[in-house]
Amino acid sequence: MNQFPQKEKFNLEQGITYLNTAFSAPLSKKAEEIGIAALKEKSRPYNSTGADFFEPTEKLKSLFSELIDAPNPEHIAIIPSVSYGISIVAKNVCLKEGDEIIIVGEQFPSNFYAWKRVANKYKAIIKTVSAPNTEENRGQKWNQNILAAITEKTAVITIPNIHWADGTIFNLKEIREKATANNALLIIDGTQSIGALPFSVNEIKPDAVICAGYKWLMGPYSLGLAYFGEHFNNGIPLEENWINRKNSEDFSGLVNYEDEYKEGAYRFNMGEMSNFNLVPILTQTIGQLIEWTPKNIQNYCNEITQDAIEELRMMHCYIEEDKYRAKHLFGIKLADNMDINRLQEEFKANNVYVSIRGEYIRVSTHVFNTKEDLQVLVNCFRLSVSF
Ligand SMILES: Cc1ncc(COP(=O)(O)O)c(C=O)c1O
Repeated sequence: MNQFPQKEKFNLEQGITYLNTAFSAPLSKKAEEIGIAALKEKSRPYNSTGADFFEPTEKLKSLFSELIDAPNPEHIAIIPSVSYGISIVAKNVCLKEGDEIIIVGEQFPSNFYAWKRVANKYKAIIKTVSAPNTEENRGQKWNQNILAAITEKTAVITIPNIHWADGTIFNLKEIREKATANNALLIIDGTQSIGALPFSVNEIKPDAVICAGYKWLMGPYSLGLAYFGEHFNNGIPLEENWINRKNSEDFSGLVNYEDEYKEGAYRFNMGEMSNFNLVPILTQTIGQLIEWTPKNIQNYCNEITQDAIEELRMMHCYIEEDKYRAKHLFGIKLADNMDINRLQEEFKANNVYVSIRGEYIRVSTHVFNTKEDLQVLVNCFRLSVSF
């Protein structure tokens, strides 16, 4: 664990307390350097070869496949956003009237709107399992309620690994078991956890995993990755692009129009997946995460946040029970005697960056944070108490 913190690998300015990777991760110095070099290459297009359209993306997919412990990189596709990945999934499900789609309460909209359209199309029902209205065993009860909601009517369960606002962990293993027993698909939005929390496709066996790249994968905006399982092998992509078809390496034969796609999830790659500016950055950041390991990141985040969480609980703030929350992202519900406006003023005055999501102050940490950052945060809460 002595490998952390890694503050010197980032360009964060002195005096900034950045506790907001859940909003957007800072690029590391190395990733920034790679990005600038990649952008400059566009000034010399004569250096590009046909292989540049394919080989870098193979490396990226292979690293992501390793990060999420997927059976092989053929199941991975490059996507621009979560809404794009979820739309692919939604386009490739066929429901009956009265079928149910399970989501959790206050789920991120990119994993909601596509399902609303599906529900309207098939006269299916979106069943929302909201957080229980209690602070006692909240995470446990929420998970129990999700399991109880899965019945023979369930066709799709489409949820995150952890809740994006408060960090509650959903027990995907148990959910998968019940989903399988009821022939339901399990779709995971891994955006707020993959990279910082261990995730294994081989263990969970989800039907699809969709992940934005600019948060816990620490990459650029507008480039994400997805895993599509066997169910989607013959699926229909959102767009039909040349590169996803067989023999697309043969640039001189592209107008010999090809009916077949390349293997596995290749058909779901977004148009211009080779994105020469962004692919090298995400490749570097995922490689770095594999080296650090999500397990060590999770443990380090736990280590630096523990004392602060204890202090905040002593000040009567509510934070999900440790067993049911992620360690890299957690929500803080204010104590009755705290003033949100004062708290926001303190954040501003002290250059503390967090997010307000629903009724929670969302705090997220990474390897560039230290215990001192968390102390700055706790002091802001202390100063927000009105007597
Ligand atoms: C859980 C979750 N999913 C997805 C996204 C981003 O979605 P999109 O890539 O469609 O903009 C976010 C952004 O905050 C998120 O928190």
